[in-house]
Amino acid sequence: MIEIRNLHHRYPDGTQALRGIDLTIDDGEFLLICGPNGSGKTTLIRLICGLFKPTSGSIRIDGLKDPHASQEIRSLVGMVFQDPDSQIVGETVREDVAFGPENLGLSPGEIRERVDWALRVMGLQDRSEKPCHLLSGGEKRRLSIAGVLAMRPRAILFDEPFSHLDYPGVQEVLKHMLLLHREGHSLVVTTHDVEKVIAHVGRTVIIHNGEIKAAGKPEDLMSELPRFGIRPPCYALFGRERISWLTE
Ligand SMILES: Nc1ncnc2c1ncn2[C@@H]1O[C@H](COP(=O)(O)OP(=O)(O)OP(=O)(O)O)[C@@H](O)[C@H]1O
Ligand SMILES: [Mg+2]
Repeated sequence: MIEIRNLHHRYPDGTQALRGIDLTIDDGEFLLICGPNGSGKTTLIRLICGLFKPTSGSIRIDGLKDPHASQEIRSLVGMVFQDPDSQIVGETVREDVAFGPENLGLSPGEIRERVDWALRVMGLQDRSEKPCHLLSGGEKRRLSIAGVLAMRPRAILFDEPFSHLDYPGVQEVLKHMLLLHREGHSLVVTTHDVEKVIAHVGRTVIIHNGEIKAAGKPEDLMSELPRFGIRPPCYALFGRERISWLTE
């Protein structure tokens, strides 16, 4: 569904953030992109979402040659930002979630239906009239996911979704990710802290210094992680176990 070829990105200050990324993400895949701080994870997923243009290389989404030039990109890929505050645009929870569907030019009825659905899925229906700035960190994270869900994108890219969350918050967000994956959405998650999610993903990519250093099944990459500055999950020492109660 997403095809990235020889992607390079250099920021205006001269920082070379990505150096020749080749990556294909299949429809319905659950992919983990892990790497230490500054390795290029956020840059890569911002480029996939079309927030800015790469210095060179190509990104094809769903076979479209220039997806970022069209409105279609919004129904194909959505991004949950690393910092939820930077994604909040509305005064209240409901207004914030409605912002995306309003920009798609949908009818008021369809907007209401999508907003109610996204608030329900993320467990925010009883907070719908609350001013966004009064939400807790975990609620803001759920709000940012609800805002992306309301756009109904086929692929959802989560940038460090577990940062600032406590244990129940992590479980909550992970549970919703697994449900979205079951419903057929493609999911891409970036993190430097792989423990929370690696047991659930189908494929893992290690990015380091703007390059993909390894890719494959999570269990095959466990021993590679420390070499690239990523802490392996503690249960890697005991074998891989799925946390089945999360998905029940
Ligand atoms: N707007 C920018 N201007 C200049 N350099 C930038 C900019 N954004 C990121 N960089 C640099 O690009 C490199 C990659 O940054 P990026 O944010 O993609 O890393 P990351 O893997 O997401 O890190 P983290 O785990 O800390 O979120 C870093 O060296 C960073 O300093
Ligand atoms: Mg980042």
